[in-house]
Amino acid sequence: MPDTFAQVAAVVAAIEDRWPVAPRVGMILGSGLGGLADRIEDATTIDYSDLPHLPESTAIGHAGRLVCGTLAGVPVVAMQGRFHMYEAHPVDRVAFPVRVMSALGASVLVVSNAAGGLNPQYQVGDIMVIDDHLNLMFRNPLVGKNDPRLGPRWPDMCAPYDPEFADQAMSIARRSDFVCHRGVYVGMLGPTYETRAEYRMVRRLGGDVVGMSTVPEVIVAVQLGMRVLGLSTVTNACSPDQLGETSGEEVVAAAASAAGKLMTIVEGVVGGMA
Ligand code: HPA
Repeated sequence: MPDTFAQVAAVVAAIEDRWPVAPRVGMILGSGLGGLADRIEDATTIDYSDLPHLPESTAIGHAGRLVCGTLAGVPVVAMQGRFHMYEAHPVDRVAFPVRVMSALGASVLVVSNAAGGLNPQYQVGDIMVIDDHLNLMFRNPLVGKNDPRLGPRWPDMCAPYDPEFADQAMSIARRSDFVCHRGVYVGMLGPTYETRAEYRMVRRLGGDVVGMSTVPEVIVAVQLGMRVLGLSTVTNACSPDQLGETSGEEVVAAAASAAGKLMTIVEGVVGGMA
């Protein structure tokens, strides 16, 4: 078993050497959304490969570096590129950077992803504020011996996504005149997109969108007592009865074209904390 507590401290020390600031917000920028990091001012960038204990990020649309600086007047640390379970990283490694962001000082996690739209009312390019999730990855980053320095053994999951942040996100979208839903994110292992039968199943189980990330990071954020804002960009329509083909390139392009809306929400919510 790695000593996660010591590993977190080592990564924090390496970051503080280059950027001696306590961020208030940690951000994880999903597929096609890494461009949001360009809005961070006075940025210090640190490649994951220059930090200890971080795995390599291999997914397309994911740069693999931390961008540290100021967004809307608030100090933030953003992951441009995340780790996925389908890259064969153990689930606790996927969520490890959240522990680092929290130990640096962040009490808020903003997590974004690209996702397939299961709800028939959702269109490609729409944003969904995550209200809740279904963990169909069948892995949990807290499995194993519990180190009480990392958080409680049995974290409560009755409201993993902060309802106040979600309300704020919805009203920012309304004021800015774009469509924004609020719904349930289903986390699947991937890396395949789903079959028609699987899309039908996850819709019946209560999902509004489906993706291959986010759930492990949010579980760890909850264990650490962070307030979470989760945002999905709908990149493909998952209608089982008229399903078209989906490709990674298409998903990244659709996410990138909706990134402006996502940024409006993120800047609005983060700016409200200044
Ligand atoms: N399924 C799973 N993950 C995804 C999808 C999807 O349809 N679209 C973008 N990420």
